[in-house]
Amino acid sequence: MCGIVGYVGPRQATDVILEGLRRLEYRGYDSAGIAVVHATEAGGTISSDKRAGKLANLEKSMATTPLAESGTGIGHTRWATHGPPNDRNAHPHLGSTGRVALVHNGILENFDALRVELERAGHDLISDTDTEVAAHLLERELTAGADLTTAMQRTCSRLRGAFTLVAIDALDPSRVVAARRNSPLVVGLGDGENFLGSDVAAFIEHTREALELGQDQVVTITADSVSITGFDGAPSEGRGYHVDWDLSAAEKDGFDWFMRKEIFEQPRAVADSLLGRRTSSGALHLDEMRLSEQELRDVDKIIIVACGTAFYAGMVAKYAIEHWTRVPVEVELASEFRYRDPILTSDTLVVAISQSGETADTLQALRHARAQRSRVLAICNTNGSTIPRESDAVIYTHAGPEIGVASTKGFLTQLVACLLLALYLAQVKGTRYGDEVTQVLDQLEQMPEHIESVLAAADQIYELAAAHTDAKTVLFLGRHAGYPIALEGALKLKEIAYLHAEGFAAGELKHGPIALLEEGLPVLCVVPPRDRDQLHDKMLSGIQEVRARGARTICIAEEGDTAIAPYADVLISLPKVPVLLQPLVAAIPLQLFACELATLLGHDVDQPRNLAKSVTVE
Ligand code: AGP
Repeated sequence: MCGIVGYVGPRQATDVILEGLRRLEYRGYDSAGIAVVHATEAGGTISSDKRAGKLANLEKSMATTPLAESGTGIGHTRWATHGPPNDRNAHPHLGSTGRVALVHNGILENFDALRVELERAGHDLISDTDTEVAAHLLERELTAGADLTTAMQRTCSRLRGAFTLVAIDALDPSRVVAARRNSPLVVGLGDGENFLGSDVAAFIEHTREALELGQDQVVTITADSVSITGFDGAPSEGRGYHVDWDLSAAEKDGFDWFMRKEIFEQPRAVADSLLGRRTSSGALHLDEMRLSEQELRDVDKIIIVACGTAFYAGMVAKYAIEHWTRVPVEVELASEFRYRDPILTSDTLVVAISQSGETADTLQALRHARAQRSRVLAICNTNGSTIPRESDAVIYTHAGPEIGVASTKGFLTQLVACLLLALYLAQVKGTRYGDEVTQVLDQLEQMPEHIESVLAAADQIYELAAAHTDAKTVLFLGRHAGYPIALEGALKLKEIAYLHAEGFAAGELKHGPIALLEEGLPVLCVVPPRDRDQLHDKMLSGIQEVRARGARTICIAEEGDTAIAPYADVLISLPKVPVLLQPLVAAIPLQLFACELATLLGHDVDQPRNLAKSVTVE
């Protein structure tokens, strides 16, 4: 939520910042703004521009009225929380005298009280945002004689909630100062220049060397230095790392949408997430697993916490972990978890799944679990993000940057990580023989090829989408590991095609949802493999019930499934894979369907309305 960029160096700050904002726009696109500082005879001045709507509006405005030349500046792309998305509420926000400009990602929970305090002291606040109070507090500290770093430290200690703040001072063009609590911020280390960004995409074309910041830290960048302190001013440090992807991963590469590109990247993403997982003896090995084998053997219950698509990956994990290890698993929406007083002990393993590693609901759930002495394992795609940093162990997925707001390769690689975790637990606990683990690993390693073959038939799905542009409702049915896939298919359609879509466990249909069926209503059915005969046959009955009511059955089934064919208005074939691995191929037609339908309906697939890529507010 909200993208933030900061720069100090020899280049034109506006160019660097606009480019960074372009790459961060997926984080929010309600408004965009930029501010630069440059020296004048009178000391220095800040110029800024900010516009409601997408970044293009700001670019248009700056093309007509360019900002002053400068090597120091900040930028912001907004996902609105407090106050409607208009020019006035856009960031940067200035202090009363215009000496300071500040951008913010997060929510300042005590802004109301601070606003009253400032207004009583004669400050005139002009926006509806929570952010503006921070600009005024900062400026008050500067006016009292503090430098920007000290002023930021003092300001932060007055704030409650989640925030990344980045600021410039008109009287000090040499530095940009930032702070973070519960909200992301990374430093990009350049040669004679330095960068700040909500994530590394902001500066990836300039440097792949990054510094991850800890909680409650203030960072000051100049062209040739980076210094870090706590909010109390005590010197501190960040963790340096090398970003293992480059600019090309953050470009569309000829695709119309990042989402479509990311769908087609899935064979590679899955292969990369499986790389290096076997020891020389063939056993499964998870290199970032910081929990000992004994600790894992002691685990007597697993709770998976996640949101949205990641939650559906967690649902698939439950089938796999319980089947292979016999350890009971609960899957819980992270936003609900801590409010129901969950039963947690030191032998409970909490698994937090998050592509971004910054989702506030998931982060708070993991903090709650750790406070109850449970161990937390993160499944995450973003190196250096908060969730893996605060977890006891981590399995990184290697999807590369996911920029489309609708998660696709992030999801598939989460499924891979969940299956690896389930197998690893089975290996450690001895609930499966070594050769069984090896057999599943072999099958997993064939998945990139299978995914490739599903993608090769994309045209059939595109035709299907073209035939459904007038659909008002689409239903999805699945059973067993196909049930979360039905839910995921419905979520994809809601978020990018803005269609009413619902996923059901096929067996539940007759308990209510069947009343929704009517002539011609499209129902996408994820059919379990035939070797699970009971499941398969029950699904077949469900499909017949749907068809008997005139609805249109679009069946996604294993190739050669002759039993389904007579009852399918449309039949989409999947390669033959075991039931627990089927989600890795069954999700793909549903992703393609949503992407194509949204495109045909004229929607912005990568930046769907009201959404943001990583939800860093609760
Ligand atoms: C997926 O398409 C969504 N955009 C959303 O549900 C997402 O999966 C959810 O917000 C969780 O994000 P995370 O994986 O980054 O924690």
